[in-house]
Amino acid sequence: MSILMFSFRNRKKFLALRRGLHFYNSVYYKFKCGIQNNFSPLAILAKLCQSSMEFLKLLFTRVSIYKWLFLLIRKEGTKMCVNQQRELRFIVAQKCNYDCTFCHGEGLQTPKEALLKPEDFRFIFNVGKKHFGLKTTTLSGGEPLIRKDIVDIADELYHEEAIITLTTNGYFLEDRIYIGNYIKRVNVSIHSLKKEKYELIVRRRNVFHKVIYGLLKLREKYPDVDIRINSTLVDGINSSERDILDLIRFAERLDASIKYVELFPAAMKGFVPLGNVEEFLKRNGFFSIPSQTRKVTLFNGFMEVNLTKIFCATAEDHNKPGAFCRNNNDLFISPDGRIKPCRNNLKEVDILDSVRSMDEESLVKKIKEAFDLLGKNCIISKDASKH
Ligand SMILES: C[S@@+](CC[C@H](N)C(=O)[O-])C[C@H]1O[C@@H](n2cnc3c(N)ncnc32)[C@H](O)[C@@H]1O
Ligand code: SF4
Repeated sequence: MSILMFSFRNRKKFLALRRGLHFYNSVYYKFKCGIQNNFSPLAILAKLCQSSMEFLKLLFTRVSIYKWLFLLIRKEGTKMCVNQQRELRFIVAQKCNYDCTFCHGEGLQTPKEALLKPEDFRFIFNVGKKHFGLKTTTLSGGEPLIRKDIVDIADELYHEEAIITLTTNGYFLEDRIYIGNYIKRVNVSIHSLKKEKYELIVRRRNVFHKVIYGLLKLREKYPDVDIRINSTLVDGINSSERDILDLIRFAERLDASIKYVELFPAAMKGFVPLGNVEEFLKRNGFFSIPSQTRKVTLFNGFMEVNLTKIFCATAEDHNKPGAFCRNNNDLFISPDGRIKPCRNNLKEVDILDSVRSMDEESLVKKIKEAFDLLGKNCIISKDASKH
């Protein structure tokens, strides 16, 4: 009985501490992101601090003129809360073991053979880094983990200092667990925590538990890898308030962030506007953090929840979608060594020969050509002629 009382009291203390931390974190982020009193000394201090802990320490020490100078010189502190840079995205495999109801397959309509070898990815990234200042890359698909040599691909890119994100449905995570040695972040698509709903969306049976097992194993083995849960919302299946809160709690326990994706196109059956989710989250203790990117980011002091549309849907919201695409879109490289500047356009730039012959000059020219094609003849753009 006394043990029970002891643990009960401790739990109460723990919950109070957690509530306090939660409150403090939300105050810090409100100052940092200019939600509260943008120009007050506290807001400026919060913006200059790199973490809520640093802010806390400074609140209780005298901030001398030297400290202010130090904070001002250290520019990282003045960055926006969320930052984004364009990148090379490798569609490493077009095939997939799932058949999701809404899948757009990253715009690859015709089947592409996986012709690029691990060392080819390294060469392409090296050229992107040297000539275009690209630092990050994403391995996506189809399903990237379907490739047996995916760990070798990640290894090659890692040795080129690429900051790697893997976007996966998670089914083969357990089998390719050593990829955790090379990646900075993994985005795992978990559309629901209910087995039946998950399997209804991916149109495969008895797959759910393997995905969750792989994810837990990754977290245990690689605590430093950032995990983000991706969930595409489908009305009537996984978009209820209960579904959303369950997934957020799961992400919190996993020390992961979470991203809800709006279905594209909006005309698709099951479309749920992200505004509905934003409203619901705000009623449940979340507030939004200003962002330069296409995402809406909400935070409750502990958990970050991103609400996002796929690129074309965001471009559609701009008055010049073509120009927006040209200035912001990533370059997608298909598994057969082609750059595909637009999911709605058949035009591609073939880089396979330049890669195979390791012809740096010709690859640079082709990458420039592909960047130049971004946003041209955009079918959703009224400014197509001007791009
Ligand atoms: C194309 S998949 C590729 C990587 C991997 N197979 C996966 O499912 O994560 C990347 C993400 O796009 C999302 N997605 C696919 N088709 C979509 C659509 N029509 N609308 C919104 N999101 C979509 C998926 O849910 C997934 O989270
Ligand atoms: S798992 Fe990814 S690539 Fe495969 S069908 Fe689903 S969304 Fe498409």
